[in-house]
Amino acid sequence: MHKSKIILILVLLIAITSVCIFLFSNKDKKESTDITLRSLADKKDFYIGGAVNSLYLDNDSDYSNVIGRELNLITTENEMKFGIIHPEKYRYDFSSADKIVDFAITNKQKVRGHTLVWHHQIPKWLEEGQYSKEEIKEILRQHIQTVVGRYRGQIYAWDVVNEAFNDDGTLRDNFWLKTIGPEYIELSFQWAHEADPKALLFYNDYGIEAINAKSIKVLETLKTLREKGVPIDGIGLQMHTWIVNGTNINELKTILNNYGSVGLQVEITELDIGVAEAKESKKTKEKLQADLYSSIFTTCLSSESCSAVVLWGITDKYTYRIEEEEPLIFNRKYKPKEAYWSILESLQKDY
Ligand code: G3I
Repeated sequence: MHKSKIILILVLLIAITSVCIFLFSNKDKKESTDITLRSLADKKDFYIGGAVNSLYLDNDSDYSNVIGRELNLITTENEMKFGIIHPEKYRYDFSSADKIVDFAITNKQKVRGHTLVWHHQIPKWLEEGQYSKEEIKEILRQHIQTVVGRYRGQIYAWDVVNEAFNDDGTLRDNFWLKTIGPEYIELSFQWAHEADPKALLFYNDYGIEAINAKSIKVLETLKTLREKGVPIDGIGLQMHTWIVNGTNINELKTILNNYGSVGLQVEITELDIGVAEAKESKKTKEKLQADLYSSIFTTCLSSESCSAVVLWGITDKYTYRIEEEEPLIFNRKYKPKEAYWSILESLQKDY
Protein backbone atom coordinates (compact mmCIF):
# COMPACT_ATOMS: atom_id res chain seq x y z
CA MET A 1 0.00 0.00 0.00
CA HIS A 2 1.41 3.41 -0.90
CA LYS A 3 2.94 5.37 1.88
CA SER A 4 0.61 8.26 1.07
CA LYS A 5 -2.45 6.07 1.61
CA ILE A 6 -1.20 5.00 5.03
CA ILE A 7 -0.62 8.61 5.99
CA LEU A 8 -4.13 9.53 4.78
CA ILE A 9 -5.67 6.72 6.87
CA LEU A 10 -3.64 7.81 9.92
CA VAL A 11 -4.76 11.44 9.46
CA LEU A 12 -8.38 10.32 9.16
CA LEU A 13 -8.09 8.16 12.32
CA ILE A 14 -6.61 11.09 14.27
CA ALA A 15 -9.36 13.39 13.05
CA ILE A 16 -12.13 10.94 14.03
CA THR A 17 -10.56 10.37 17.45
CA SER A 18 -10.27 14.07 18.19
CA VAL A 19 -13.89 14.70 17.16
CA CYS A 20 -14.99 11.91 19.52
CA ILE A 21 -12.91 13.36 22.37
CA PHE A 22 -14.35 16.81 21.72
CA LEU A 23 -17.93 15.57 21.68
CA PHE A 24 -17.44 13.45 24.82
CA SER A 25 -15.74 16.23 26.75
CA ASN A 26 -18.52 18.59 25.79
CA LYS A 27 -21.10 16.35 27.55
CA ASP A 28 -20.31 18.36 30.67
CA LYS A 29 -20.76 21.73 29.06
CA LYS A 30 -24.21 22.54 27.74
CA GLU A 31 -23.97 24.34 24.38
CA SER A 32 -26.84 26.51 23.24
CA THR A 33 -27.33 24.30 20.17
CA ASP A 34 -27.87 21.17 22.35
CA ILE A 35 -31.23 19.65 23.16
CA THR A 36 -32.37 21.36 26.39
CA LEU A 37 -34.88 20.52 29.11
CA ARG A 38 -37.18 23.25 27.85
CA SER A 39 -36.93 22.24 24.18
CA LEU A 40 -38.11 18.76 25.12
CA ALA A 41 -40.76 20.03 27.55
CA ASP A 42 -42.10 22.47 24.94
CA LYS A 43 -42.65 19.55 22.53
CA LYS A 44 -44.83 17.86 25.19
CA ASP A 45 -46.67 21.04 26.17
CA PHE A 46 -45.14 20.38 29.63
CA TYR A 47 -43.56 22.87 31.96
CA ILE A 48 -40.17 22.55 33.62
CA GLY A 49 -39.65 25.45 35.94
CA GLY A 50 -37.41 26.90 38.58
CA ALA A 51 -37.54 29.38 41.44
CA VAL A 52 -35.56 32.49 40.52
CA ASN A 53 -33.87 34.86 42.95
CA SER A 54 -33.61 38.39 41.56
CA LEU A 55 -30.38 38.97 43.53
CA TYR A 56 -28.50 36.67 41.15
CA LEU A 57 -30.16 37.58 37.86
CA ASP A 58 -28.11 40.76 37.60
CA ASN A 59 -24.72 39.65 38.83
CA ASP A 60 -24.33 36.04 37.66
CA SER A 61 -24.57 35.60 33.88
CA ASP A 62 -24.17 31.82 34.18
CA TYR A 63 -27.28 31.82 36.39
CA SER A 64 -29.43 33.84 34.00
CA ASN A 65 -28.08 31.94 30.96
CA VAL A 66 -28.87 28.48 32.36
CA ILE A 67 -32.34 29.58 33.50
CA GLY A 68 -33.15 31.13 30.13
CA ARG A 69 -31.78 28.11 28.24
CA GLU A 70 -33.25 25.24 30.26
CA LEU A 71 -36.60 26.39 31.74
CA ASN A 72 -39.92 27.34 30.12
CA LEU A 73 -41.44 28.43 33.43
CA ILE A 74 -40.11 30.42 36.36
CA THR A 75 -41.42 31.46 39.76
CA THR A 76 -40.35 34.16 42.16
CA GLU A 77 -38.45 32.65 45.11
CA ASN A 78 -39.13 35.57 47.47
CA GLU A 79 -39.96 38.72 45.50
CA MET A 80 -43.76 38.45 45.66
CA LYS A 81 -43.99 37.54 49.34
CA PHE A 82 -46.08 39.94 51.41
CA GLY A 83 -43.23 41.52 53.38
CA ILE A 84 -41.06 42.13 50.30
CA ILE A 85 -43.67 43.41 47.84
CA HIS A 86 -45.72 45.39 50.41
CA PRO A 87 -43.16 46.63 52.95
CA GLU A 88 -45.27 49.54 54.28
CA LYS A 89 -49.05 49.93 54.59
CA TYR A 90 -49.30 52.46 51.77
CA ARG A 91 -46.19 51.43 49.81
CA TYR A 92 -45.63 48.50 47.43
CA ASP A 93 -42.20 47.64 46.04
CA PHE A 94 -42.57 45.75 42.77
CA SER A 95 -38.99 46.33 41.61
CA SER A 96 -37.54 42.87 42.29
CA ALA A 97 -40.70 41.06 41.19
CA ASP A 98 -40.80 43.09 37.97
CA LYS A 99 -37.19 42.07 37.28
CA ILE A 100 -38.19 38.41 37.24
CA VAL A 101 -41.39 38.93 35.26
CA ASP A 102 -39.49 41.03 32.69
CA PHE A 103 -36.83 38.28 32.46
CA ALA A 104 -39.56 35.73 31.79
CA ILE A 105 -41.14 37.88 29.09
CA THR A 106 -37.74 38.34 27.40
CA ASN A 107 -37.10 34.58 27.55
CA LYS A 108 -40.65 33.58 26.56
CA GLN A 109 -41.24 31.75 29.85
CA LYS A 110 -44.44 31.34 31.88
CA VAL A 111 -44.53 32.74 35.41
CA ARG A 112 -46.00 31.33 38.63
CA GLY A 113 -46.70 33.93 41.31
CA HIS A 114 -45.50 32.87 44.77
CA THR A 115 -47.16 33.54 47.26
CA LEU A 116 -50.05 35.78 48.34
CA VAL A 117 -51.03 34.44 51.79
CA TRP A 118 -48.50 32.69 54.07
CA HIS A 119 -47.54 32.72 57.76
CA HIS A 120 -43.92 33.75 56.95
CA GLN A 121 -42.69 37.20 55.91
CA ILE A 122 -45.74 39.11 57.12
CA PRO A 123 -44.49 42.70 57.52
CA LYS A 124 -44.28 44.18 61.03
CA TRP A 125 -46.63 47.08 60.15
CA LEU A 126 -49.37 44.48 59.68
CA GLU A 127 -48.44 41.79 62.20
CA GLU A 128 -47.99 44.32 65.02
CA GLY A 129 -50.59 46.83 63.82
CA GLN A 130 -53.41 45.95 66.26
CA TYR A 131 -55.95 46.04 63.43
CA SER A 132 -59.51 44.72 63.76
CA LYS A 133 -60.77 41.66 61.89
CA GLU A 134 -62.56 43.83 59.31
CA GLU A 135 -59.48 46.05 58.83
CA ILE A 136 -57.24 43.03 58.24
CA LYS A 137 -59.74 41.55 55.78
CA GLU A 138 -59.69 44.83 53.84
CA ILE A 139 -55.87 45.02 53.98
CA LEU A 140 -55.59 41.44 52.67
CA ARG A 141 -58.20 42.05 49.96
CA GLN A 142 -56.38 45.16 48.77
CA HIS A 143 -53.01 43.38 48.91
CA ILE A 144 -54.18 40.43 46.83
CA GLN A 145 -56.05 42.54 44.29
CA THR A 146 -53.22 45.07 43.93
CA VAL A 147 -50.56 42.40 43.37
CA VAL A 148 -52.63 40.05 41.20
CA GLY A 149 -54.09 43.00 39.30
CA ARG A 150 -50.64 44.37 38.49
CA TYR A 151 -49.55 41.14 36.81
CA ARG A 152 -52.91 40.33 35.24
CA GLY A 153 -52.28 38.43 32.02
CA GLN A 154 -48.56 38.02 32.79
CA ILE A 155 -48.79 35.41 35.57
CA TYR A 156 -50.64 32.24 34.56
CA ALA A 157 -50.88 30.73 38.05
CA TRP A 158 -50.70 31.90 41.67
CA ASP A 159 -49.92 30.14 44.90
CA VAL A 160 -52.78 31.97 46.60
CA VAL A 161 -52.56 30.28 50.02
CA ASN A 162 -49.38 28.55 51.18
CA GLU A 163 -48.96 25.99 54.01
CA ALA A 164 -52.30 26.51 55.81
CA PHE A 165 -52.47 23.00 57.35
CA ASN A 166 -50.59 21.19 60.11
CA ASP A 167 -49.29 17.63 59.69
CA ASP A 168 -52.30 16.27 61.61
CA GLY A 169 -54.76 17.90 59.20
CA THR A 170 -55.82 20.75 61.47
CA LEU A 171 -55.60 24.33 60.26
CA ARG A 172 -52.30 26.05 61.10
CA ASP A 173 -52.92 28.63 63.83
CA ASN A 174 -51.36 31.43 61.80
CA PHE A 175 -51.87 35.21 61.78
CA TRP A 176 -54.66 34.95 59.21
CA LEU A 177 -56.63 32.29 61.08
CA LYS A 178 -56.26 34.16 64.34
CA THR A 179 -57.40 37.51 62.92
CA ILE A 180 -59.88 36.69 60.14
CA GLY A 181 -60.87 33.11 60.90
CA PRO A 182 -60.92 29.99 58.63
CA GLU A 183 -62.78 31.88 55.93
CA TYR A 184 -59.51 33.66 55.01
CA ILE A 185 -58.77 30.77 52.68
CA GLU A 186 -61.87 31.01 50.48
CA LEU A 187 -61.88 34.81 50.64
CA SER A 188 -58.28 34.90 49.34
CA PHE A 189 -59.17 32.73 46.35
CA GLN A 190 -62.25 34.79 45.57
CA TRP A 191 -60.33 38.09 45.74
CA ALA A 192 -57.55 36.71 43.53
CA HIS A 193 -60.11 35.47 40.99
CA GLU A 194 -61.80 38.87 40.85
CA ALA A 195 -58.41 40.49 40.14
CA ASP A 196 -57.47 38.07 37.33
CA PRO A 197 -60.27 35.68 36.30
CA LYS A 198 -57.96 33.90 33.84
CA ALA A 199 -55.17 33.08 36.30
CA LEU A 200 -55.06 29.53 37.69
CA LEU A 201 -55.32 29.62 41.48
CA PHE A 202 -53.41 27.05 43.54
CA TYR A 203 -53.28 25.91 47.13
CA ASN A 204 -49.60 25.10 47.85
CA ASP A 205 -48.10 22.98 50.63
CA TYR A 206 -45.40 20.48 51.65
CA GLY A 207 -45.85 16.90 52.88
CA ILE A 208 -49.02 16.32 50.82
CA GLU A 209 -47.42 14.13 48.14
CA ALA A 210 -48.16 10.98 50.18
CA ILE A 211 -51.24 9.44 51.81
CA ASN A 212 -51.37 10.95 55.32
CA ALA A 213 -53.64 12.91 57.69
CA LYS A 214 -52.58 16.21 56.09
CA SER A 215 -53.08 15.24 52.45
CA ILE A 216 -56.44 13.57 53.21
CA LYS A 217 -57.71 16.73 54.97
CA VAL A 218 -56.34 19.05 52.27
CA LEU A 219 -58.05 17.00 49.56
CA GLU A 220 -61.34 16.96 51.49
CA THR A 221 -61.19 20.71 52.17
CA LEU A 222 -60.36 21.72 48.59
CA LYS A 223 -63.06 19.40 47.24
CA THR A 224 -65.65 20.99 49.57
CA LEU A 225 -64.56 24.54 48.72
CA ARG A 226 -64.71 23.82 44.99
CA GLU A 227 -68.19 22.33 45.42
CA LYS A 228 -69.16 25.63 47.14
CA GLY A 229 -67.97 27.45 44.01
CA VAL A 230 -64.69 28.77 45.45
CA PRO A 231 -62.32 29.30 42.45
CA ILE A 232 -59.55 26.86 43.36
CA ASP A 233 -58.03 25.37 40.20
CA GLY A 234 -55.04 23.45 41.43
CA ILE A 235 -52.82 22.09 44.14
CA GLY A 236 -49.09 22.65 44.44
CA LEU A 237 -46.99 19.84 45.90
CA GLN A 238 -43.79 21.50 47.12
CA MET A 239 -41.76 18.27 47.38
CA HIS A 240 -38.65 19.39 49.21
CA THR A 241 -37.43 15.83 49.55
CA TRP A 242 -34.42 13.56 50.12
CA ILE A 243 -32.85 10.40 48.68
CA VAL A 244 -33.09 8.85 52.17
CA ASN A 245 -36.76 8.09 53.10
CA GLY A 246 -37.81 10.92 50.83
CA THR A 247 -40.57 10.08 48.39
CA ASN A 248 -42.82 7.04 47.97
CA ILE A 249 -43.39 6.99 44.20
CA ASN A 250 -46.37 4.64 44.40
CA GLU A 251 -48.09 6.96 46.87
CA LEU A 252 -47.23 9.93 44.66
CA LYS A 253 -48.97 8.20 41.73
CA THR A 254 -52.05 7.58 43.91
CA ILE A 255 -52.13 11.11 45.26
CA LEU A 256 -51.89 12.62 41.76
CA ASN A 257 -54.91 10.52 40.76
CA ASN A 258 -56.80 11.47 43.93
CA TYR A 259 -56.34 15.22 43.38
CA GLY A 260 -57.10 14.81 39.67
CA SER A 261 -60.29 12.88 40.47
CA VAL A 262 -61.81 15.96 42.14
CA GLY A 263 -60.84 18.18 39.19
CA LEU A 264 -57.69 19.72 40.64
CA GLN A 265 -54.74 20.45 38.36
CA VAL A 266 -51.50 19.35 40.04
CA GLU A 267 -48.10 21.00 39.81
CA ILE A 268 -44.97 19.96 41.63
CA THR A 269 -43.92 23.43 42.74
CA GLU A 270 -40.66 23.40 44.76
CA LEU A 271 -38.82 20.18 43.98
CA ASP A 272 -35.33 19.69 45.32
CA ILE A 273 -33.75 16.42 46.51
CA GLY A 274 -31.23 16.50 49.37
CA VAL A 275 -28.42 13.96 49.67
CA ALA A 276 -26.76 14.94 52.97
CA GLU A 277 -28.11 12.08 55.10
CA ALA A 278 -27.05 9.33 52.70
CA LYS A 279 -23.95 7.37 53.72
CA GLU A 280 -22.92 6.34 50.20
CA SER A 281 -20.11 7.86 48.14
CA LYS A 282 -20.65 11.25 46.43
CA LYS A 283 -20.93 9.50 43.07
CA THR A 284 -23.51 7.01 44.35
CA LYS A 285 -25.50 9.75 46.08
CA GLU A 286 -25.59 11.70 42.83
CA LYS A 287 -26.86 8.58 41.01
CA LEU A 288 -29.56 7.96 43.65
CA GLN A 289 -30.58 11.60 43.36
CA ALA A 290 -30.77 11.31 39.56
CA ASP A 291 -32.92 8.19 39.84
CA LEU A 292 -35.38 9.91 42.16
CA TYR A 293 -35.58 13.00 39.94
CA SER A 294 -36.26 10.71 37.01
CA SER A 295 -38.99 8.79 38.91
CA ILE A 296 -40.74 12.00 39.99
CA PHE A 297 -40.63 13.53 36.52
CA THR A 298 -41.79 10.26 34.92
CA THR A 299 -44.65 10.02 37.43
CA CYS A 300 -45.80 13.57 36.70
CA LEU A 301 -45.39 13.18 32.93
CA SER A 302 -47.43 9.95 33.04
CA SER A 303 -50.24 11.53 35.05
CA GLU A 304 -53.26 13.16 33.42
CA SER A 305 -53.47 15.76 36.21
CA CYS A 306 -49.79 16.80 36.56
CA SER A 307 -48.75 19.60 34.21
CA ALA A 308 -45.49 21.02 35.57
CA VAL A 309 -42.47 20.35 37.73
CA VAL A 310 -40.84 23.43 39.23
CA LEU A 311 -37.43 23.07 40.87
CA TRP A 312 -36.67 25.22 43.88
CA GLY A 313 -33.66 26.74 42.18
CA ILE A 314 -31.38 25.42 39.45
CA THR A 315 -27.85 25.27 40.89
CA ASP A 316 -26.42 24.05 44.20
CA LYS A 317 -24.59 27.38 44.30
CA TYR A 318 -27.76 29.15 45.48
CA THR A 319 -29.96 26.57 47.21
CA TYR A 320 -31.81 27.72 50.35
CA ARG A 321 -30.97 24.32 51.89
CA ILE A 322 -27.71 23.60 53.72
CA GLU A 323 -24.84 23.27 51.27
CA GLU A 324 -24.24 19.54 52.01
CA GLU A 325 -27.71 18.72 50.62
CA GLU A 326 -26.59 19.61 47.08
CA PRO A 327 -30.29 19.25 46.06
CA LEU A 328 -30.41 20.69 42.55
CA ILE A 329 -29.46 19.69 39.01
CA PHE A 330 -26.43 21.87 38.23
CA ASN A 331 -23.43 21.93 40.55
CA ARG A 332 -21.89 25.11 41.92
CA LYS A 333 -19.83 25.53 38.76
CA TYR A 334 -22.94 25.10 36.53
CA LYS A 335 -21.89 21.65 35.37
CA PRO A 336 -25.00 19.52 34.74
CA LYS A 337 -25.22 16.73 37.34
CA GLU A 338 -26.48 13.18 36.76
CA ALA A 339 -29.93 14.50 37.73
CA TYR A 340 -29.91 16.86 34.74
CA TRP A 341 -29.31 13.97 32.33
CA SER A 342 -31.88 11.74 34.00
CA ILE A 343 -34.55 14.47 33.68
CA LEU A 344 -33.53 14.97 30.04
CA GLU A 345 -34.06 11.24 29.44
CA SER A 346 -37.45 11.29 31.17
CA LEU A 347 -38.51 14.16 28.90
CA GLN A 348 -37.42 12.17 25.79
CA LYS A 349 -39.75 9.24 26.56
CA ASP A 350 -43.26 8.87 25.16
CA TYR A 351 -46.08 8.65 27.71
O1 G3I B 1 -34.51 40.53 52.06
C1 G3I B 1 -33.85 40.38 53.33
C2 G3I B 1 -32.57 41.23 53.36
O2 G3I B 1 -32.94 42.61 53.28
C3 G3I B 1 -31.82 40.96 54.67
O3 G3I B 1 -30.61 41.69 54.66
C4 G3I B 1 -31.53 39.45 54.74
C5 G3I B 1 -30.77 39.09 55.99
O4 G3I B 1 -31.68 39.14 57.10
O5 G3I B 1 -32.78 38.71 54.73
C6 G3I B 1 -33.46 38.91 53.49
O6 G3I B 1 -34.68 38.19 53.53
C7 G3I B 1 -34.46 36.78 53.39
C8 G3I B 1 -35.29 36.30 52.18
O7 G3I B 1 -35.18 34.85 52.04
C9 G3I B 1 -34.86 36.96 50.89
O8 G3I B 1 -33.56 36.56 50.58
C10 G3I B 1 -35.00 36.09 54.65
O9 G3I B 1 -34.15 36.44 55.73
C11 G3I B 1 -34.96 34.58 54.45
O10 G3I B 1 -35.60 33.94 55.54
C12 G3I B 1 -35.74 34.22 53.19
O11 G3I B 1 -35.65 32.81 53.02
C13 G3I B 1 -36.57 32.28 52.04
C14 G3I B 1 -37.65 31.46 52.80
O12 G3I B 1 -38.53 30.85 51.85
C15 G3I B 1 -38.49 32.35 53.69
O13 G3I B 1 -39.20 33.27 52.88
C16 G3I B 1 -35.80 31.35 51.10
O14 G3I B 1 -34.89 32.13 50.31
C17 G3I B 1 -36.78 30.62 50.18
O15 G3I B 1 -36.08 29.66 49.39
C18 G3I B 1 -37.83 29.89 51.02
O16 G3I B 1 -38.75 29.31 50.15
C19 G3I B 1 -39.87 28.65 50.79
C20 G3I B 1 -41.10 28.87 49.93
O17 G3I B 1 -41.32 30.26 49.79
C21 G3I B 1 -42.30 28.16 50.53
N1 G3I B 1 -42.02 26.72 50.69
C22 G3I B 1 -40.82 26.46 51.50
C23 G3I B 1 -39.61 27.13 50.87
C24 G3I B 1 -38.34 26.80 51.64
O18 G3I B 1 -38.42 27.31 52.93
